Order: sequence, then C-alpha cells, then structure tokens
Amino acid sequence: MDELEKIRAEAMELVAQASSLDALEAARVATLGKKGTVSALMASLGKMSPDERKTAGASLNAVKDEVANAIATAKAALDAKALDERLVRERVDVTLPVRPETQGRIHPISQVMDEMIAIFAQMGFEVAEGPDIEDDFHNFTALNIPADHPARQMHDTFYFGEKDDGSRHLLRTHTSPVQIRTMVANKPPIRIIAPGRTYRCDSDMTHTPMFHQIEGLVIDKATHMGHLKGTLMEFVTTFFEVDEVPVRFRPSFFPFTEPSAEVDIGCSRDGGELKIGKGSGWLEIGGSGMVHPNVLIACGLDPEEYQGFAFGMGVERMAMLKYGIPDLRTFFDSDLRWLKHYGFVPLDVPTLSGGLTR
Ligand code: DAH
Repeated sequence: MDELEKIRAEAMELVAQASSLDALEAARVATLGKKGTVSALMASLGKMSPDERKTAGASLNAVKDEVANAIATAKAALDAKALDERLVRERVDVTLPVRPETQGRIHPISQVMDEMIAIFAQMGFEVAEGPDIEDDFHNFTALNIPADHPARQMHDTFYFGEKDDGSRHLLRTHTSPVQIRTMVANKPPIRIIAPGRTYRCDSDMTHTPMFHQIEGLVIDKATHMGHLKGTLMEFVTTFFEVDEVPVRFRPSFFPFTEPSAEVDIGCSRDGGELKIGKGSGWLEIGGSGMVHPNVLIACGLDPEEYQGFAFGMGVERMAMLKYGIPDLRTFFDSDLRWLKHYGFVPLDVPTLSGGLTR
C-alpha cells in the first residue's frame, strides 16, 4: 500500500498548494476527477481478489474522503477570502454626493402633478385614472352634455373614425370622464383626484393640442359647497407655499355641476411682477361646483341620498404660475436647455413634511 500512501500524500499536497479557486478545481480534477489519481486506484480494485478488495477498498475510501474533505475546507476558506476581497474592492463611500453625474431632470408637469397628488393625498384623496381614448358616454353624455348640447362644440374634440354602429371614439377633452368611471365602479363615500392628459383640437399662443388637467371629486351624504371651498383654499396655500391665498368663487356654468363656480385666487401685479397671495388682482385657476343630479343618476347613484362636489384645473397653468414659466408651448418643445433650467432633480420628491419644492 505504499502506492496508496504516495498518492494520498501527493493529492493532499496538491490541495494544500492550491492558492486560488481555479487551482483548487484543477487539484480536484487531478485527484478525484474521472481520470484523477485517486479515481484511477479505485478502478484498479476491480482486478483484485475479493479479500484484497475488502481491505484495499476500505483504505482507499478513507483516502478519497480525506482528500474530498480537504478540498471542501480549502474551498470554504478561498470563498471567504474572495468575498473579503470583493467587499473591500466594492466598498461604497456613502458620504459622496448622490449620483452627481445624473443629467436627467423631471419635467415641471410631472413635478407639479406629484406635488398636487401629495397635497390631496394628505387630505384623504385617492388617485384615479381613466383612458385617454374615451367614448361619447363617459366624455359627454354621462356628464350631462347630450348630443345636441352647445358645450360639445366648445370642446374641439379629436374624433376617431366611425364604427359600424355609427359611434366614434375620441381623445378625452377633459379629465371629467374619470368622475363617471369612478362613480360607476365605486360606492360612495368617494374622494378622488384624477391627474392626466387631455386633448383638444386647438393650437395657438395659449393652447396646445395636448395638455394636462387634474380633476377632483368628492361624493358623500352631506358634502356641501363649503367643503369644496375649504378643500381648494387648503390646496392653493399649500401648493403655492404662501401663508394666505385668497380664494374667490365666481358664478359660472358647467353642464355637470349645479351650482357652478369658476375659481379665482388672489394675486398682486405690483411693479409688473406677478405674486400669488394677497393683493388687488385675481387669477382664474379652474372650474368647480356641486355635482349635477343628472350626473349622479347617469352613474346609478340616487341624488336624494348622495351629493358632492367636483373641480378641474389645468396643470400647465398651475406650473406656469408657481414656477414663473412664461410660455405654455415651451412645455412641449423637448428643449433640453429649457428642461435643465425649469426641470427638477429626480430625488427632489415633493412631500408635505419635506417641503414641496427645494
Ligand atoms: N371639465 C372642465 C373643463 O375641462 C373643468 C371642470 C369644471 C371640471 C368644473 C370640473 C368642474 O369637475 O366641476 O373645462
């Protein structure tokens, strides 16, 4: 059995010498591998007599186990060493500025919508969504705008081709259809806002064919116009980050609300500079009112039991007022210089506790 002792010693030496995982694997192949030295001895067992095989087999198995154990121990040590090296090599300096190389900016529209969501979420509103491609029922009929209503002309609607039944899909002209979808699918109490894209066939200094609105809807049993005004007052002071922003309701008309009011906020224009807050001027920021009973009925709600308010605002307009962006059309120019100037750093996520803008 000198032969066995020699092979054992060589195998153990080979394993002991292996200073890397690759070298260790090579040592394993050279000893325990199919054509390895230990395996070759195993094969020779076949040629022995049964008695010889018994004793030789036992000691051979012991050698095999010893080598296998040595390899496992060496592997564990080398793995640990490799991990230690990686931990040192890949160490992160957490005191470095966060991604200073970040070039991208968040578009003011996205930022302002996030700000609005943060404010209304604090008041208990949920975000609701609807499709950009709408049908006549949700965009008009259910909102108390029947087929012959003059308000339809005012919306400059983009229509799709006629279907077999004569109906046409359209690009939603406002976010109000999300009110309908929400009321059809949910039982009151309802408190939602619906920010999103809207479309009208209109393009000049102050209109773009695609723009954004945010819709609000509250339906409950005892909701009244005071709640509407309080909600909007809370919203504008938080949004504009000014202590006091006067809010004024001007009587108006929308088919889907009764009574209806246009919402103005106070401002001053002293010295040609527009400032939101107390002052002698007023600025219109949106429409609002108490949800019309016909709208509730169209959504399967009993107007004797439920009532509520709704409002709608233009997101671009709010962004322009807050951040002093003078021209609406620049929002959609995709000019990187503009975005760099008016855009927001991605990690400046608006929160009420952290301040909306930093
Ligand atoms: N949908 C209206 C528009 O696009 C805005 C609006 C006005 C929405 C009054 C409302 C509302 O929910 O109550 O002109």
